[in-house]
Amino acid sequence: MTAKIIDGKAFAENLRGRIAGHVERLKAEHGITPGLAVVIVGEDPASQVYVSSKAKQTAEVGMNSYKHELPADTPEADLLALVHQLNADPAVHGILVQMPVPRHIDANKVIEAIDPAKDVDSFTPANVGKVQIGLPGPVSCTPLGCLMLLREELGSLEGKNAVIVGRSNLVGKPMMQLLLRDNCTVTVAHSRTKDLPDVVRRADIVVAAVGRPQMIKGDWIKPGAVVIDVGINRIPAPEKGEGKTRLVGDVDTAAAAEVAAAITPVPGGVGPMTIACLLANTITTASLING
Ligand code: GUN
Repeated sequence: MTAKIIDGKAFAENLRGRIAGHVERLKAEHGITPGLAVVIVGEDPASQVYVSSKAKQTAEVGMNSYKHELPADTPEADLLALVHQLNADPAVHGILVQMPVPRHIDANKVIEAIDPAKDVDSFTPANVGKVQIGLPGPVSCTPLGCLMLLREELGSLEGKNAVIVGRSNLVGKPMMQLLLRDNCTVTVAHSRTKDLPDVVRRADIVVAAVGRPQMIKGDWIKPGAVVIDVGINRIPAPEKGEGKTRLVGDVDTAAAAEVAAAITPVPGGVGPMTIACLLANTITTASLING
C-alpha cells in the first residue's frame, strides 16, 4: 500500500477562507473585529518564525493582530503585567504567550494569569476542564487540527483504536479528550511505555507527538492505519550541503507510507492546521465574549 498524503496545508487554507467569511460577518452584523495578541519572550528562531506566521495569518483573515516582542531577560512580573493589561483590553479577544518561555519565568504562572475567556490556546485550567466535560470554549489548537484531519479522512471515528504517543499538556492529553469525545478507544503511550512498537501496531489511528525525530518506524504501523505526525524536528541534512538541516516528523514517513492508508507529511501536515485553529479559536472567544 502507498498511503495518501494528507494535505494539511490545503485544508488549512480552506479553513482560513471560511474563517475570513466569519470575520466579515462579525464585523458587518455585530461591529466586532476579533483581535489576537501574540506575546513572545526571547529570540528563539523557531518561535520567532511561528509567531510571525501567526501574526501574518491573523491579519490576512481580517482580524486585528497585536504582536508583543519582549527581550529574553524580561522579568516574570513584567510579563504577568502585560498579560493583565491584555486581559483588560476590550480590543483583544485572544491572548497567546508563545511557549516555551525562558527558564526564569514560571510558565504555569503565566498560563494561570490569562483570562480563560481569552485563552485561545486552551491552556488554562478552566478551559482544560471545559474540554474534559464537553462544555463550549476554545480547544487546544494542535489537537483540534489533528481531529479535523482525522474526521476528514475517516468520517466517523467511532470504535477506532487510537494510540497517542506523547502525554504533553499541549498535545497528548487534550488529544486524548477529543478522541474520547469522538468515541475512540484511546491509549496514551509515552517514553516509559513497555513494548511501544506492539502498542502502536494495534492502532487504527496513530497520533505521534513525542518530539523525537523519526522515532516511529514503518513496521510499527498497522496496515491501513491513519497516521498523524505532530512532530517538527530539525535534523542535519549533509546531502543538502555542509551545515544544512531539514525538518522531519516523529514518524519515519517514507517507511510508514508503505503501510498506512493515509499519513500527514512534515512540513505541510499538522503545522498549518495549528495556526488555522488558533484563528478559529479567536472567533470562538470573540463570539463568546460578546454574547
Ligand atoms: N509553542 C509550540 N506550540 C505552541 C502553541 O500551540 N501555543 C503556544 N502558546 N506556544 C506553543
